[in-house]
Amino acid sequence: MPLEEDGALGQPPRQVEAVAAPAGAPAVANAQWGGRFAAGPAAIMQEINASIGFDQRLWRQDLRGSKAHARMLEQAGILDAVDAAAIRDGLDAIGAEIEAGRFVFETALEDIHMNIEARLSERIGEAGKRLHTARSRNDQVATDFRLWVRDAIDGIDAQVAALMLSLAARAQEHAADPMPGFTHLQTAQPVTFGHHLLAYVEMLARDRGRLADTRRRLNECPLGSAALAGTSFPIDRSLTASLLGFDRPTQNSLDAVSDRDFALEYLSALSILSVHLSRLAEEIVTWCSAPFGFIRLSDAFTTGSSIMPQKRNPDAAELTRAKTGRIVGALVGLLTVMKGLPLAYAKDMQEDKEPVFQATDAAALCLAAMDGMVRDLVARTDRMRALAGSGYSTATDLADWLVRVLKLPFRDAHHVTGRLVGRAEALGVELADLPLETMQAEHPGITADMVAVLTVDASIASRTSEGGTAPANVAAQAARWIERLQNQTGATACT
Ligand code: ARG
Repeated sequence: MPLEEDGALGQPPRQVEAVAAPAGAPAVANAQWGGRFAAGPAAIMQEINASIGFDQRLWRQDLRGSKAHARMLEQAGILDAVDAAAIRDGLDAIGAEIEAGRFVFETALEDIHMNIEARLSERIGEAGKRLHTARSRNDQVATDFRLWVRDAIDGIDAQVAALMLSLAARAQEHAADPMPGFTHLQTAQPVTFGHHLLAYVEMLARDRGRLADTRRRLNECPLGSAALAGTSFPIDRSLTASLLGFDRPTQNSLDAVSDRDFALEYLSALSILSVHLSRLAEEIVTWCSAPFGFIRLSDAFTTGSSIMPQKRNPDAAELTRAKTGRIVGALVGLLTVMKGLPLAYAKDMQEDKEPVFQATDAAALCLAAMDGMVRDLVARTDRMRALAGSGYSTATDLADWLVRVLKLPFRDAHHVTGRLVGRAEALGVELADLPLETMQAEHPGITADMVAVLTVDASIASRTSEGGTAPANVAAQAARWIERLQNQTGATACT
């Protein structure tokens, strides 16, 4: 399912008003930090500086972080109970305002942190101005963004698990249906369609592993690192960490405010995931082309052509393939932002959020579309079976027979088989249709019962090695995945 638009990951950014004043015109300085400023920023300064147009998506995480911080300040005796309660209620009220679309995000207040803090002071007065004690926007944004990425990981992970379950269910259905297996996109050996689908389940399982690793390393709380050096107030960082579900506080304040490894790791994991999705997308595009004709997508997952009435285009698969560009682009973009930044925080790091938001949105959309296509596709099993046996796809089975029965060294068996394929090609027939005398001319030991190994079913049934394509293996693997995933997701496989 796609990430909720109004869920923990926030609204897609709304357009904020462009700064009205002409470049260079004085405006009032930012009320949150304008003490030493006589005049306000140039319009263009405000425009380049503001992040509220996109970081408003962090509003839930910012409120959560502020509530935890206020509670800790109270426990540490830095805030009194009255102020702490006013702050908590004020933050809740602001949450309700944002949720209801009644909150006015101001470009002049730069970012989500100052928009919320200014509104808090507006609502509750003096107490609101005490909230920023013992913290800085630097540790605040690092905390908010970690919380956001953690929520995003959980959402993407659930979607990957759902896709794996859909793939495993289709694999179970097609555990014994042969298709041509390819290397170099040349017919290689028959495999089962179920085996092919389960290959993607394995890839996606590793993607989940990478997301889980990222989450584990990310789960330390920067709050309390303040601007860069820590704080002189007697704060309890373990308390804020635990209130926010982090495993522990970070251990170096400079690192904590200037590190974005967690975002980079997340984007790396998403990039590899999207490469996997794009490979499956590419296969879907190929499989539903007329020359292949392996699958059919319904009207729900195809589009028509404005000029060619016969067309059914797999646009969702093509766009999933294409969106990999955005996701990998986000990773390369953020790596490039971070490269060469001196410690500690630098404003460059404000550019960390958009790539992460965009990559998350793209990945969530692709996962949902891919899940839809996997459930929707109808396998044309007769067509796949017919093609599975063409192109001398069982030549290796003949070579293996020569090794097993006639005890030929494999290299010699390969040679004999190659010559037989050459003869079959010259006669325009399949290997099984070569006259016995022709076969015996290449090796006198070949007997009529060899032909049995050349069928597609015999070929796939013989591949019983661990991880091989034998239908019994595939059925067992599919069942194992379905059971595991149903336990994790609570979902049921339906095909
Ligand atoms: N909007 C800023 C960001 O996203 C918040 C931190 C600003 N810190 C500062 N010292 N200017 O990075």
